Amino acid sequence: EFMKEASGFSVLEQSVKDKLHVDHVIVVPGNSDEVDWVKQEMGKAAIGFLRSILKNNQTIAVTGGTSMAAVAAMMTPLENAKNCMFVPARGGLGERVENQANTICAEMANKANGEYRLLHVPDPLSEESYQSIIGEPSVKEILQLIRQADVVIHGIGDAMTMAERRKASEEVLQRIEAGNAVSEAFGYYFNKTGEVIHKVRTVGLQLEDLFSSQCVVAVAGGTSKAKAIMSYFQQGKSNVLVTDEGAAKELIRE
Ligand code: G3H
Repeated sequence: EFMKEASGFSVLEQSVKDKLHVDHVIVVPGNSDEVDWVKQEMGKAAIGFLRSILKNNQTIAVTGGTSMAAVAAMMTPLENAKNCMFVPARGGLGERVENQANTICAEMANKANGEYRLLHVPDPLSEESYQSIIGEPSVKEILQLIRQADVVIHGIGDAMTMAERRKASEEVLQRIEAGNAVSEAFGYYFNKTGEVIHKVRTVGLQLEDLFSSQCVVAVAGGTSKAKAIMSYFQQGKSNVLVTDEGAAKELIRE
């Protein structure tokens, strides 16, 4: 059923796949910059994809953001994936509580009839606090779950938009600007060629952990995000993209 739904955009999906060198692309109709419910449609499509890959007893790490909040809003019980564990990928990153990974992860788990574990750390962290927090046994335990997640699902943001939304310091804003950061994901900021320009110091998933996950799903749409999506995928650390027509058409135009 999921394949049939996606087939209306199969040519566009294939073009985006070729452009980004990604294993699987799902495009939903519309442009989430203009119409809010398009995000919910991306959420639904992401859930459809998760249902097709998740197995019993798997761990799913999720990030924050409004796109991920839309995924949580559309979540339904996962009959074929019993005892799944949802964990937040990283700390709060300065987001409002409704956009934080902890909040989204708990909602997803409840709706999926799964379990969840939360990560209670302030961020950004000083080097000193970072070292002592990662030494705490309770934090160590959840960090292990996060870093070994079977599936990761995350948003991608425009670098400046994200830094401003999270009220980054003047110093960080300057670094992001000077480094020509284009995209953001997991609290990492990337330039056009996918190099890391800045990284929010918090605990949780590190970029290199993505290589050991079975499946890393990005959910990001809207014409305004095309450049950010392009930049993030230069590193090739995610293998699935759920997007919308607005972003997809802009992506293949560039
Ligand atoms: O981590 C958040 C993402 O980078 C983007 O957030 O889905 O609200 O645009 P968004």
